[in-house]
Amino acid sequence: MRIQHNISLKNYNTFGIDVKARYFISVSTLLELTSVLQLEDYPNKLMLGGGSNMLLTKDLDALVIHINLKGAKIINEDANHAFVRASAGENWHEFVLWCLDNNFGGLENMSLIPGNVGTSPIQNIGAYGVELKDNFESCEALNRDTLEMEVFKNEDCHFGYRNSIFKNEVKGKYIIISVVFKLTKHTHQLHTNYGAITSQLEYMQIENPTIQDVSHAVIAIRQSKLPDPKKIGNSGSFFKNPVISIEAFEQLKQNFPKAPSYPISDSEVKVPAGWLIETAGFKGKTFGNYGVHNLQALVLVNYGGAKGQDILALSKLIQKTIYRIFNISIEAEVNIL
Ligand code: EPU
Repeated sequence: MRIQHNISLKNYNTFGIDVKARYFISVSTLLELTSVLQLEDYPNKLMLGGGSNMLLTKDLDALVIHINLKGAKIINEDANHAFVRASAGENWHEFVLWCLDNNFGGLENMSLIPGNVGTSPIQNIGAYGVELKDNFESCEALNRDTLEMEVFKNEDCHFGYRNSIFKNEVKGKYIIISVVFKLTKHTHQLHTNYGAITSQLEYMQIENPTIQDVSHAVIAIRQSKLPDPKKIGNSGSFFKNPVISIEAFEQLKQNFPKAPSYPISDSEVKVPAGWLIETAGFKGKTFGNYGVHNLQALVLVNYGGAKGQDILALSKLIQKTIYRIFNISIEAEVNIL
């Protein structure tokens, strides 16, 4: 176990921001993790997973602990389901592909989401009509105070839209070590109603799709409009889609009759932030080496060498402009560090 000094985090965050960690260590066993957590010489400790949901705006005067715990296996089965445990450091998409190779259904709509398994419950990742919570059985998390493992069942996690207990009540108190998923072995429940999936499957001329076909369709859609972080630095959706009251939406419609929305409840709707940002004129705008993606306005991009501070300033300008034009506040989805 070796702690490194002044390490660039450029390859550890999908935005590709080049800041330094004063101290850095990658841990691949639980024992290593608990030993590092007990080191008293490093009071500031910061956990790093896949680095896919963060914007780094400065050098980190901390011990950055990269969670690199690996492994995925079937831990239980019943007639219809497989219960699969994956370690926190497994790459999300590779894990989804492993499930599909085993013909386990449930995660296919979430193909190609960047990041690792261990951070997926924190923001209840989701795409194309499916969220992590739909297949989440439980997770094991290490209590940072007691260094004991605790189990969180689905209902314990208080999952919401890009939200969970790990972002609220117990923020920073636990490190997720592994996640158990409840997946179908046959009679898979396909979710193909999301507009883009239906048309993609038609385009692929597939009438009776398998879970593998749905995954291929999702991959094709994502590749067609979301930038590949390996080529262009980004953190996926930078903002959450705002939820507003029906009355506020009716008011919006008076000035913007074409404003899209998705129903949430009897009293609220979700408005796509991508539409607000595009309508405000930001889509495809570049500011030197950073900007707003030209195919999906929700995604801010680093074309190479951008500073986190610049991207943060752009995000604030977007928020302010959206508020001025539409009277709607949009909230960052990524964590700003
Ligand atoms: N739209 C625009 N302009 C844009 C982008 C979107 O007008 O530049 C409008 C269109 O009306 C479109 C609607 O927004 O019909 C919805 O767009 P899309 O289907 O691309 O979904 P989204 O709401 O923009 C959300 C998630 C994505 C996820 C997609 C598909 C959030 C914050 N984002 O985006 O998640 O892939 O749905 O399910 O909920 C992520 O979280 O990193 C992410 C990429």
